[in-house]
Amino acid sequence: MNILIIGSGGREDALAWKLCQEQNIKKVYICPGNAGMQRLEKAETIPMGGINELINFSLDNHVHLCICGPEAPLTEGLADHFSKAGIAFFGPSAQAARLEGSKIFSKEFMARHNIPTAKFKVAESYEEAIQIIEKWDFEKGIVLKADGLAGGKGVVVTHSQEEAKDTIFDFMKNPDVSIKTSRLLLEDILIGEEVSCFGLCAEENFIFLGSACDHKRVGDGDTGANTGGMGCFRDRKWPDQTLQDKVIEQVLKPTLAGLKSEGTPFTGFLFMGLMIDEGGNPWVIEYNVRMGDPETQTLIPLLVGDLGSALFNMVNGGPSIDLALEDKDSVHVVLTSGGYPSIGKHEMSLGHEIHFVNTDDDKSEVFFAGVRAQGEKLINSGGRVLGVTCVGSSVEDCRKQAYTKMEGIELKDSHYRRDIGERKRGSKS
Ligand code: AMP
Ligand code: GLY
Repeated sequence: MNILIIGSGGREDALAWKLCQEQNIKKVYICPGNAGMQRLEKAETIPMGGINELINFSLDNHVHLCICGPEAPLTEGLADHFSKAGIAFFGPSAQAARLEGSKIFSKEFMARHNIPTAKFKVAESYEEAIQIIEKWDFEKGIVLKADGLAGGKGVVVTHSQEEAKDTIFDFMKNPDVSIKTSRLLLEDILIGEEVSCFGLCAEENFIFLGSACDHKRVGDGDTGANTGGMGCFRDRKWPDQTLQDKVIEQVLKPTLAGLKSEGTPFTGFLFMGLMIDEGGNPWVIEYNVRMGDPETQTLIPLLVGDLGSALFNMVNGGPSIDLALEDKDSVHVVLTSGGYPSIGKHEMSLGHEIHFVNTDDDKSEVFFAGVRAQGEKLINSGGRVLGVTCVGSSVEDCRKQAYTKMEGIELKDSHYRRDIGERKRGSKS
């Protein structure tokens, strides 16, 4: 089987790494991929092109299955185009991808199907948003969310009416702010521990893959700016089976049934961003219609079973294939370029050679993201450069291994957090 993966980051590298190890996979194409993927024998990166070029490439090269890493191509209908061309695609249609593409669609969907989520109101205009704010009980605070995809910049959690009003101005009126929305979501703050849970889905069939907790802030102790993710861990003791069953019964199953009943069945990775309250009950913060980054790099090395065949069969209605995570923990630590996350005109320190010093071992895996080749050298070309995953019998053991490995990787001006996996299981990042 030949597979095409869309994307270029660590998540796509981890997927390619796993698929390249599977016996019945002949070739893994990654578009556009990154230079680090050249280490994978069966992998080949292909340049970015338009949808028609991708489809023609897939037909010419006998691609049996396409998988998409990032959300934007899915909300733009990539799955619909592939399906129309008769190429199996493990990812949702544009209609089903609204679960991530529109925060308001997603909240109203949850309300229609009694899926637990924070209470909310929708403002259709700036004036309406201000009216809602003036009546809001600020003892409990408020979360303001721009409606569309905003690369993680469209959410502000605040406890003050002043800040809420400023944010509404920024999101809806301020010409100097890049986030723009004509509709705003206003919701209660959820309190508890955050966790990302994943389902591999085809209409109402699913495999519950498991969960991981990421660290979103750039600095140790969850300080500093929000990022795409600085690291992640999987603690197999939490969420426990009881909690996982609640996630399946109260979130995953009604989500899939609800989408099907509305005529927009869901195929693909379903990422449930959850808050677990004190009573051990899950509340949906958000859905994503793809795997997480760096959750994928954390979970994939634990995955046992043929991922390629499992996804292919799910899309095509073939027999189900066993996929499960090993009974182990894992930790993934991300190395970033100096200056990441780059905000405004602030520049990152790019173009330096990455040196691997005494990093030979078989217990950890390096996944590549913002890297490019310069002759024989590998240089950093993006914010998140690479990440190290270690698997072991405890989160603590994995942490130790991951940091030993990280110490052997040299990159000028680079940064990584020293406390990945240290925070109390799943608490807010
Ligand atoms: P989102 O883009 O919706 O995932 O929001 C980004 C982050 O904001 C989440 O990972 C949470 O940490 C936080 N957040 C979003 N909504 C809420 C909420 N209702 N209560 C508490 N925190 C939230
Ligand atoms: N790690 C969060 C995300 O992929 O959206």
